[in-house]
Amino acid sequence: MSARKPYYVTTPIYYVNDAPHIGHAYTTLACDVLARFMRLDGYDVHFLTGTDEHGQKVEKAASAAGMEPQPFTDKVSRNFRDLGQLMGYSNDDFIRTTEPRHIKASQAIWQAMAAGKSPKGRDNIYLEKYGGWYAVRDEAFYGEDELTKRDGKMFAPSGAEAEWVEEPSYFFRLSDWQDTLLKHYEDNPDFIGPASRRNEVISFVKSGLEDLSISRTTFGWGVPVPGAPGHIMYVWVDALTNYLTAVGYPDTKSEIFSKYWTADLHMVGKDIVRFHAVYWPAFLMAAGIKPQKRVFAHGWWTNEGQKISKSLGNVIVPAELVAKYGLDQLRYFLLREVPFGQDGDFSNAAMVRRMNTDLANDFGNLVQRVLTQVNRNCNAAVPQHGEYTSADLSILKRAHDLLDRMRVEIQRQSFHLALEAMWELIAAGNRYVDAQAPWGLKKTDPERMATVLYVLVEVIRHLGILAQPVMPISAGKILDQLGLAADERGFDRLGLTHALEPGRALPKPAPVFPRFVVEGEAAKAQG
Ligand code: MSP
Repeated sequence: MSARKPYYVTTPIYYVNDAPHIGHAYTTLACDVLARFMRLDGYDVHFLTGTDEHGQKVEKAASAAGMEPQPFTDKVSRNFRDLGQLMGYSNDDFIRTTEPRHIKASQAIWQAMAAGKSPKGRDNIYLEKYGGWYAVRDEAFYGEDELTKRDGKMFAPSGAEAEWVEEPSYFFRLSDWQDTLLKHYEDNPDFIGPASRRNEVISFVKSGLEDLSISRTTFGWGVPVPGAPGHIMYVWVDALTNYLTAVGYPDTKSEIFSKYWTADLHMVGKDIVRFHAVYWPAFLMAAGIKPQKRVFAHGWWTNEGQKISKSLGNVIVPAELVAKYGLDQLRYFLLREVPFGQDGDFSNAAMVRRMNTDLANDFGNLVQRVLTQVNRNCNAAVPQHGEYTSADLSILKRAHDLLDRMRVEIQRQSFHLALEAMWELIAAGNRYVDAQAPWGLKKTDPERMATVLYVLVEVIRHLGILAQPVMPISAGKILDQLGLAADERGFDRLGLTHALEPGRALPKPAPVFPRFVVEGEAAKAQG
């Protein structure tokens, strides 16, 4: 048997100054769906997430909480692990940047960059004095032309306040990497997605890159720069390196490193695309390491039309949504409602609409009415089919083709289109039930009824297997109702070859997708 192909997918690591909110849950959810999809499709997946625990922002948050940074990060990092439990993430590793393995990897990449030369034959890292603007909230340096002045203060485009910083600092010679980066984007058209972000990055790099300050001396919460007492690494150098740490760097000969590096996908939000698509590949090339294959930047969520922020008091807490609507319902909503890559708005009305229309009325109803009839009219077993009509063959073909359609969309991170393709089959399934009206055939043509129900059971089997990455619990319930064992749920079981054998006993069906009744409407309905 040939070895399974590796697939390495990462989320950004989360700053531990804030409690997790829906934006954090979103990035990791998208990776989780990808990871589950690729595993079911036969890949050997490594899915990484974790927490970004160094830097001035975290140091300030710890001090505001009256704690030392280490115990503070121990405490807050746990919230992100708990988020993983809540959201059902299937990550293979959870990295914390305060772990010894990560300090070691960060120092090793620094040394590798320092030992190498830039494309213009100069040292990649040099010591200088930095004088410029820094926004702690973004942990980012800004040029004066990027800032806006208000009430005597300077603000970054993100809204974060920037302060003037002056200190000795090591610099990374980013300016020398400009042409190499542009060539890399040109040679690798899939390196950045979606296309709008790719264009944005290319024009940023074309506009001219400045060298980057990569060490700080005015505070101490970070990874020490090797051989330079008093300097700690700029938090982004250390943070980006987490993707290497987790696959065993600096041991580049290790099995895990050879298997998983280079990363297939760094999933990020649109705010941090520059770090991942400009600085990170430059750092990697400077250290003699192959850059990642792809970065995909998704959009941002607003809440009922408003920017989400702690000060506005409108932070959406994932645990509250899961408790109110259900986990799979939330997972489905987040990936279906908004084209992945664009900004989106969370609203309770939209959430309820998706639950009641797509899930309860369309998918749930199809499964429920078919399995109930099988249970009642076919002795609770997979029916025996006879000759197929062209309508039967046409819907079976759609079911057999669905994996290919979804695979194309998932591999370019168009989750919404993958789900749309699935819902086209669900709609076709419901139309087929209506047209064939199997319940009317019980007396007149029981054989034909059995064939129609057999076709529908097969359609549901395909839908159930393919729904697993997005809605693992509900899909699992559907597959339980078809009596499928664990080893019958992979994508290798799709298609005609593994069609259900007639006669297989089926458990009693139960509804999978409940309707959401809005308070007040329940009372109205009761009169
Ligand atoms: N620590 C850095 C990442 C370092 S990766 C080497 C960081 N952390 S973060 O906690 O601020 O953000 C993590 C992710 O959450 C980012 O991808 C960001 O885009 C995403 N989101 C934060 N708020 C968001 C929304 N309101 N909507 C969607 N995603 C947003 O950046």
